[in-house]
Amino acid sequence: MIFAANFKTNHTRSSTAAYLKQLAKTIAPKRAEDRVMVFPPATALDRYEGDFTVGAQNAYPVQNGAVTGEIGLEQLEEFDIRTILIGHSERRELLGESQEMVAKKFSFFKEHGFEIIYCIGEPLEVREAGEEAVKAYLFAQFEGIDLSYEKLIVAYEPIWAIGTGRSATTEAIASTHAALRSKVTVPLLYGGSVKPANITEITAIDNVDGVLVGSASLDVESFSEMILK
Ligand code: 13P
Repeated sequence: MIFAANFKTNHTRSSTAAYLKQLAKTIAPKRAEDRVMVFPPATALDRYEGDFTVGAQNAYPVQNGAVTGEIGLEQLEEFDIRTILIGHSERRELLGESQEMVAKKFSFFKEHGFEIIYCIGEPLEVREAGEEAVKAYLFAQFEGIDLSYEKLIVAYEPIWAIGTGRSATTEAIASTHAALRSKVTVPLLYGGSVKPANITEITAIDNVDGVLVGSASLDVESFSEMILK
């Protein structure tokens, strides 16, 4: 299983350092085959010691240059960051990141050999329109994305389940992941209100190879509990 923590716009540089120091200790008894990843805010990127991978939540597809407010490859290379989240719904929805931009980022970071967690997910009105609508919406988010990339991980995060405390049902996750499995052979993560109370149920679903956790990952005890369950 893959356990990935997306801090979003939470934690500071010092609280991230304290968190990761603690995480390194608490996950020592984890199963050897399980992988842990943490995506802190860009201001907290650094080299950290522990059996986990630190990745970037976002970066602009440039080595460096004139892109005010963004970070590029140079700022990730400083800390040997080789893993990135691309296509998160908050970037698509709140920041207006188009499929074209998402695909451009994907190609750039693929060319540079990054491990990419590529996020997809539908809004509530699409889910309410039924399974076929969901599939069409999600598959459209694969436009311009090389699904055969060997360092790809896909994260399915229904927008209506993110930060709402209301995870998708086991049936909805199972059927959506089965549909995704028909397109990709890479690991599939589920995200959206994953927490200690539902982790066992979610990781037991067919075609779920891991989880991408927001709110319940912010507390190191809560995230560790999910990994060790
Ligand atoms: P929550 O776990 O807070 O629902 O967030 C999920 C998410 O968006 C992770 O990327």
